[in-house]
Amino acid sequence: MQQPNGSRIIVALDFPEAAAAFDLIGRIAPDQCRLKIGKEMFTRLGPDFVREVVARGFDVFLDLKFHDIPNTVAASCAAAAELGVWMINVHASGGRRMMEAARERLEVAGARPMLVAVTILTSLSGEDIAEVGFQGTPEENVLRLARVAQEAGLDGVVCSPRETGALRARLGTDFRLVTPGVRPANSADDDQRRVMTPGDAIRAGANYLVIGRPITAAANPTEALRRIAAEVSQASA
Ligand code: C5P
Repeated sequence: MQQPNGSRIIVALDFPEAAAAFDLIGRIAPDQCRLKIGKEMFTRLGPDFVREVVARGFDVFLDLKFHDIPNTVAASCAAAAELGVWMINVHASGGRRMMEAARERLEVAGARPMLVAVTILTSLSGEDIAEVGFQGTPEENVLRLARVAQEAGLDGVVCSPRETGALRARLGTDFRLVTPGVRPANSADDDQRRVMTPGDAIRAGANYLVIGRPITAAANPTEALRRIAAEVSQASA
């Protein structure tokens, strides 16, 4: 069952094995944050791991970024929904029909997870997207794909915190913006390049912040989460 909670922080559970993930999960409560399970942990540990985290009362963002023909993506989204997760995602570049099929299949299932789209991966530069045939800047493509996602009835997009302001201004207040690339002012950037602090990302219009290593690799993850949560509530006020 989904546990409603007000947290805007989604902690990325990027661990090589389950024990480390459960160690962290054991130290935090479901009303302090939501959790993201990505391709690495899902591929290693499978749906049982997801069910276990959900059973512990956490809202789970299952970050599998589906991208395939409409029927396959719709069926995969239905399978993800059966796990009781709170949010799932697809690639917007899979097209309008793929996104509509996913949304429609979830609606048939009744209580559905939030469905968001990845636009242009933040790891891709202007040259990278030109090489695979996209015209225009990454920002122009992000906006175009986000509009298609909105028209297809999706709930929001995953975007860089730097794109949040422009997307919020153009896509309205109801469209959810989920942003990774968030770093507290005093922490390492790791391999993230264009980062924003939690407070600035919220003020720019983000609904949810995906944060991994500043919490998972902290000497005291509970304290790191508490500090970030305080910054987020101050920025939300
Ligand atoms: O440790 P860190 O805070 O960088 O983790 C960010 C999480 O968000 C990782 O799980 C990463 O895969 C994910 N992510 C990202 N940038 C994107 C999409 C997802 O960092 N554009």
